[in-house]
Amino acid sequence: MNCTRRALLGGSAGIATILAGAPAAAMPRAAHAGFGPPMPPPSDLLPSPLPETDPSRTCFDLGWRFHEGEVPAAAPVTHNDTYLSVKAGTAPGAAALDFDDSDWQQVGLPHDWASFQPVVETANVSQGYRKRGIGWYRRTFRLDEADRGRRLEVQFGAIATNATIWVNGNVVAHSWSGYTGIHVDITPFARFGDALNVIAVRVDATVMEGWWYEGAGIYRHVWLARRPAVSIATDGIHARPVRGKDGQWQLPVSVTLESVAAEEADVAIEAVLLDPEGQETARTRIAARVAALGHGEANLTLAAGQPRLWSLERPALHRLVVRVIRAGSPADERYLAIGFRTIDFDPDLGVSLNGRSIKLKGVCLHQDHAGVGVAVPDALLAWRLARLKDMGCNAIRCSHNACAAELLDLADRMGFLVMAENRRFNPAPDYLAQLEWMVRRDRNHPSVMLWSVFNEEPMQGTHAGVEMVRRMVAAVRRLDPDRPTTAAMNGAFYDPENVSQVVDVMGFNYYPNDYDRYHRLNPGKPILSSEDTSAMMTRGAFASDPAAHVLSSLDTEAADWGATHRRSWAEIAGRPFVAGGFVWTGFDYHGEPTPFAWPTTSSFFGILDLCGFPKTAHDIRRAQWRDDVPVVAIAPHWTWPGREGQPMKLLVTSNADSVTLRLNGRTIGEARVDRINGNEWTLPYAPGRIEAIAHRAGREVARAVHETVGKPVALRLTPARRKMVADGEDVQPFTVDAVDRLGRHVPDADCLAHFTVHGGTIIGVGNGDPNSHASEKAPSRSLFHGLAQVIVRADAGAGPLSVRAEAASLRPAGAIVEKVPRAPRAQVAAEEQFQAIAAWRRSPALSERPDPSLAPRDGDNNAWAFVTPGDSLAPEARAGWRAYRATVTPRRAVRRAGGALRFAAIVGRAEVWMDGALAAEKHEQAPGPLAMPWHPGEGPRTVVLLVQFAPGQTTGLAGAVTITEDKGKR
Ligand code: GAL
Repeated sequence: MNCTRRALLGGSAGIATILAGAPAAAMPRAAHAGFGPPMPPPSDLLPSPLPETDPSRTCFDLGWRFHEGEVPAAAPVTHNDTYLSVKAGTAPGAAALDFDDSDWQQVGLPHDWASFQPVVETANVSQGYRKRGIGWYRRTFRLDEADRGRRLEVQFGAIATNATIWVNGNVVAHSWSGYTGIHVDITPFARFGDALNVIAVRVDATVMEGWWYEGAGIYRHVWLARRPAVSIATDGIHARPVRGKDGQWQLPVSVTLESVAAEEADVAIEAVLLDPEGQETARTRIAARVAALGHGEANLTLAAGQPRLWSLERPALHRLVVRVIRAGSPADERYLAIGFRTIDFDPDLGVSLNGRSIKLKGVCLHQDHAGVGVAVPDALLAWRLARLKDMGCNAIRCSHNACAAELLDLADRMGFLVMAENRRFNPAPDYLAQLEWMVRRDRNHPSVMLWSVFNEEPMQGTHAGVEMVRRMVAAVRRLDPDRPTTAAMNGAFYDPENVSQVVDVMGFNYYPNDYDRYHRLNPGKPILSSEDTSAMMTRGAFASDPAAHVLSSLDTEAADWGATHRRSWAEIAGRPFVAGGFVWTGFDYHGEPTPFAWPTTSSFFGILDLCGFPKTAHDIRRAQWRDDVPVVAIAPHWTWPGREGQPMKLLVTSNADSVTLRLNGRTIGEARVDRINGNEWTLPYAPGRIEAIAHRAGREVARAVHETVGKPVALRLTPARRKMVADGEDVQPFTVDAVDRLGRHVPDADCLAHFTVHGGTIIGVGNGDPNSHASEKAPSRSLFHGLAQVIVRADAGAGPLSVRAEAASLRPAGAIVEKVPRAPRAQVAAEEQFQAIAAWRRSPALSERPDPSLAPRDGDNNAWAFVTPGDSLAPEARAGWRAYRATVTPRRAVRRAGGALRFAAIVGRAEVWMDGALAAEKHEQAPGPLAMPWHPGEGPRTVVLLVQFAPGQTTGLAGAVTITEDKGKR
């Protein structure tokens, strides 16, 4: 396909050129001088690993098997099957321990199967027209003998949406929310040594909790925690920095302990505080007693003195180490990032951080990104937040659900304030538990400033609604007495009973005309804009064309209930009593294609598009929000062939004092900068060079330049970073654009680019076009208004990563990224599953050798015992025989090609009969193994073991019985 020009649409917002003398932080942009893609130049920074918080945990992301769709389990028919089907350990179908998952897809987490789906018109509009449905995951793993006696816990970051989890055929958890972590104590179900363990997860993603794209599957990290018998409970530490009246800080720490030990245990709890340089500043210890299978709580206080404070500009993080010490040696440990800061909401003064008044320059975020759906790798999440930070954003609202734990780790570290939000408005126990889980997990983060109990609920102005909120607020306060609560309301502000009366901070979703009235009528209530704007833009389009589902990005379009970026911020910036606001939204997201529907599949609300490419809103917000560096930008670009002489509207955004506009060296106008609204000019279009020169105190501080560029002649690839970490997890986006003969970004190129990668893997592609139906997993993508994105994961191991992009009639582009060695994070080893015959029936003791066809009658749950190989057996009173029977369907490969049946240890003389034929004999009395071929063939097969025993002898199955593909050998 050729690279053509679009007649009307094109380009991206202006690129500021910062001149020498400007603060160093701003300098990198100068390198591109308006000719690079409208993205920051590649950085030399490497992502630092996220802080280790729990050394007892091992990542459990690799080695999963996935099946898309339901796996129906045959319903039991006979009485015995029915009887057994409701017993522990006997889950049927894909939940069964020995279910054959060998033909399931091998996947790593995070995984969002919806992101692989094509868009189809019949699917749900809000979810981005992607089919979700039902899916299954399984993971087989081994636990060491050394893990016996430990507390074993599997932790799922979240599963979208409803999930049922089994461990070794036992149902262990139901999860009713796609945003809530699930922690399963698997200790009682665990098997050790050679016996394998299997986790099975059935995910029902037909359930919707939101009106946006929610993805499907295990889309956050999974962990296996192996802890000492007496250990610190998951999310069991609450550390709450408190500043005394004397200016000295205390750090009260409460620690919840739990025990799987057989007896009551005495332990010591130690807490150590380290400053940001790692120097110890305080230490204390206390004794605690924990009952067998019980809980204990220990409370300690560290005197922190006058620590360096956490702030948005310098987010100093201390480290709290909490240890359980048992019998003199450290047994369990956790590490917490601690930020010392005060945050106060005031009805008249808004919000202050460490006593200094600030304005919340916030964005609402959903979780997904182009190409990957909600399965956003940590490094991509960090990149997204860096894009927001660069814009001057200082606050994030996790709308409308608990976010990934990693987002908060990054927010602590990067200096964002977070409004954490609960998904379900419901104080019934199952749902209150979701809110409580979120508060418990997130209450130690310095970034978290506010708990939002709901978003826009129709019951917000009712007596029942108030009663519901009261209970939810009380639950929050029980767990976190320090942070205020809020609710994001979109009406009922003045109803005689409304929920604003029972939360600490009033959250306005839209309705800026009510800020003053509400403030007047409720002089004691702090106010913030929990959501505003809902302005809509297609990146790179500078005229709306509703018929084509295109919206101008000159900040003229907003939802009926919203307002432009300029109007929204004017309402907030001008009112000191409004603590700040959260723009709907920071990034575009899949789904909710308001104001359109099919064929549009993603939203228009983002300041940045689905790939994180800046729209004009980014320049507007950067000018409004950044105080630390001078900025200036021009929208639109300056390549409009065929439009010569026609009037062109320009929006110049800056935070300087004044700005001068020049066309081809001639001054067009000068103006005092309107930092909120920008400065507009309309002038006849003439090709050449348009410049906006920003001044402060008469001195030039920043300059934006666009030139009229020529036809595209080559592709270009620009990585976000020049280096990647070779740990198998590092991911980064590459920007793909086209350049003209002089190497300048061509803002209206739309060619189809094909990608090849060596030393890495493409995990997704995108271009920010809300109307595109192209696969986000294909190794190709059209540029949309000059840009596309390919997201690449660097493989573990040596050698560089190289990416190549090709398009018809253009010179190809290549990018080579250095891979820096870093050991992959430890993962729970994946095991290939083999089949164990675990369920046997054992006849009563018989004096004569039975016929091998002897079987229990249907309905007999007692005369023939249910036995598992390896169970301890009582000695026989008299000489005699027993028959053992099992019915088994071999795994696919064995059915096809045969294999081996192997008894690890049979006690007594024995015969093995398979499907009525003698297969092997054991002539010795002493325990020993017995192996025989397993012949190929379909269907359930019957295995019978006849064992002869002497008085006083134990009989039978003293070890595992396995069917393996590889004869005699596993
Ligand atoms: C709000 C809602 C958001 C989103 C937005 C679109 O009312 O809270 O989730 O739907 O409207 O403008």
